[in-house]
Amino acid sequence: MNETPWLTYMPSRGTRAHPAVGAAPTVIDLPRPDLRAGVPLMTALSFRASTREFSERELSLATLGDLLWAADGINRPLSGGRTAPSPHGAQEIDIYVAMPGGVYRYDCPTHQLVLKHAVDARNLTGYQDFVGTAPLDLVYVVRGSKLLDMPAAQRDTFSAVTAGAISQNVSLYCASAGLATVVRGWINHRLLADALSLNEDETPILAQTVGLPADTRA
Ligand SMILES: Cc1cc2nc3c(=O)[nH]c(=O)nc-3n(C[C@H](O)[C@H](O)[C@H](O)COP(=O)(O)O)c2cc1C
Repeated sequence: MNETPWLTYMPSRGTRAHPAVGAAPTVIDLPRPDLRAGVPLMTALSFRASTREFSERELSLATLGDLLWAADGINRPLSGGRTAPSPHGAQEIDIYVAMPGGVYRYDCPTHQLVLKHAVDARNLTGYQDFVGTAPLDLVYVVRGSKLLDMPAAQRDTFSAVTAGAISQNVSLYCASAGLATVVRGWINHRLLADALSLNEDETPILAQTVGLPADTRA
C-alpha cells in the first residue's frame, strides 16, 4: 500500500497558483444528478479504498454534478435537507472545487459552481505527488459564522464530523462510479486559505482528490 509518509510540511509543489486553463466562467450550471446511476450501496462499500494514482483526464460535467450532489447536495427540496448531516442542520461546511479552470464554491441550493478565484490552485491543496496533476481537488472549508450559536468547545469536533460525512459520501460515490479518490488531512492551511481567497472566519480542514484511475485510457 502506498501509505502517507509521516509528515513534512514543506511545500513541494510551489507556493503560487497557476493561471487558470480556459475562460473561467463566473457560474457553471451542473447537470441534475442521475439518481439511478452507480452500483448498489453494499457493492460500493465493498470497493471503497484510498487511491493515490490518478489519470490527468478531466471529469465530465455530468460526473461533477453527480459527485457534488452526492457530497452534500439538496436531497429534500422542501426542507433544504442535504445528503450529509450537520449539527442542528448548520450546514457549516462549504465545498471548494479546485480544477484546471479555476477555484469554485459548490452552491448547494442552486446546484451550481460559483467562481471564487480564476486560478489553477490544485498544486496548493497538498504535498503529495499527485497533487497538481489529478483533475480535481475538493477542499472542505468550515464557515465559522454558522457555528456561533454552538458552545465553542463543540465547534471543531462537530464541523470535523460534518466534513467526514461529506467526504465519505464522496468516497462512496467514487466507489460506485469507478473513480479514484483519497481524503487528505495533510494540507497547508495558510496557503490554501490564500489560494481559495477565504475570509477570516473560513478555515480549510480537509481535502479530497478525485479522478479517473491512473490506467484509464483516453
Ligand atoms: C482524517 C483523514 C486524513 C487523511 N489524510 C490523508 C492524507 O493527507 N494523505 C493521504 O494520502 N491519505 C490520507 N488519508 C487516508 C488514509 O491514509 C487511509 O484512509 C488509510 O491508509 C486506510 O486506507 P483505506 O482508505 O484504503 O482503507 C486520510 C484519512 C483520514 C480519515
